Amino acid sequence: MIIGVPKEIKNNENRVALTPAGVTELRKHGHTVYVQAEAGKGSGFTDEQYTHAGASILPTIEEVYGIAEMIIKVKEPIASEYPLIKENQLLFTYFHFASSEPLTHEMIERKAVCLAYETVEKTDRSLPLLVPMSEVAGRMAIQEGAKYLEKPMGGFGILLGGVAGVKPANVLVLGGGIVGTQSAKMAAGLGANVTIMDISLARLRYLEDIMPANVDTVMSNEYNIRELIQGANLIIGGVLIPGAKAPSLITRDMLKLMKPGTVMVDVAIDQGGCFETSKATTHEDPIYEVDGVVHYCVANMPGAVPYTSTLALTNATLPYAIQLANQGWKQACSTNEELRKGLNVVHGKVVFKGVAEAWHLPYTDVKELF
Ligand SMILES: NC(=O)c1ccc[n+]([C@@H]2O[C@H](COP(=O)([O-])OP(=O)(O)OC[C@H]3O[C@@H](n4cnc5c(N)ncnc54)[C@H](O)[C@@H]3O)[C@@H](O)[C@H]2O)c1
Repeated sequence: MIIGVPKEIKNNENRVALTPAGVTELRKHGHTVYVQAEAGKGSGFTDEQYTHAGASILPTIEEVYGIAEMIIKVKEPIASEYPLIKENQLLFTYFHFASSEPLTHEMIERKAVCLAYETVEKTDRSLPLLVPMSEVAGRMAIQEGAKYLEKPMGGFGILLGGVAGVKPANVLVLGGGIVGTQSAKMAAGLGANVTIMDISLARLRYLEDIMPANVDTVMSNEYNIRELIQGANLIIGGVLIPGAKAPSLITRDMLKLMKPGTVMVDVAIDQGGCFETSKATTHEDPIYEVDGVVHYCVANMPGAVPYTSTLALTNATLPYAIQLANQGWKQACSTNEELRKGLNVVHGKVVFKGVAEAWHLPYTDVKELF
């Protein structure tokens, strides 16, 4: 198959959908890979590395879309890319159709095959192409939190791990899923006192077993949250109710219970945030203060560490990309249910129920495609 890797052109997107290592793997399976010039630059990969791995470099995005049977990307196509997409072309990328009506209509019109990273789903209902970004964001939340706890950055002025004779900081993690687990591990590793809260007793039981001694688990409810925020220096919001807006677990009135200079990192901001006072921020202007509490609410945290994020994402996407290239989308999706769940818009038909419902469009059962 002929595979094309365009350079991401969405504002501040430095990731790339395929690494030189990925090129080598696809080449081993007999495929041809075209990479747009400087596509890997933001993630630290040079054109020479891609060429050395067996790719051909094309100077323009038009040439990449023009030649490829399968386009592998990171972000959804933006308006300037729409006219480049051809009928029958397979697009394997994040789409988030339910949040963009124009994108959905355009992809229907283009009659392309849109396989969305975010809806590829394993039989245990986990989302293998979203997990890596939660891992990055969860770990980064502690790094950012530690930075904004420094006095000159607006924080209380406490070192997460303390030193001999001085107590470490208290870190409270709301939600013990992927984000919460990674945050807790990082904070514990730095020597902080960590508490993880979740509503799932089974999850708390698991975390209690695997976490080090400086991590406690506590059932998440309003009473316990009110009590624990009073002693917390850093609070991480990592709750998720799939398909719904995150619940406001910390309300505005609770802020006055906290110490001035407490830092709250709301990782769940992409689902509306789990603190009432959260509003999305950017890497250029990541924090603001409400009632003396520092809020960090960057909606695309992994974007700040494109090298790590690219490798984490491509480690997860490459096996699927190889299957798609080896078998073609139709055969690969008919035999692999995980990939089939990724199909959203195919040849002008919406085959993902949530997208059809979001924009009141006719829905076609994906099984009718095979
Ligand atoms: N800001 C970013 O850059 C960024 C990056 C990656 C992920 N995220 C977001 O982070 C959030 C968490 O993702 P995840 O992969 O860890 O999800 P996850 O499903 O693995 O974990 C969510 C956890 O929240 C728990 N939960 C639900 N309601 C709760 C409550 N009331 N109190 C305490 N816990 C509760 C669930 O039981 C679950 O364990 C998502 O909204 C995700 O989109 C943001």
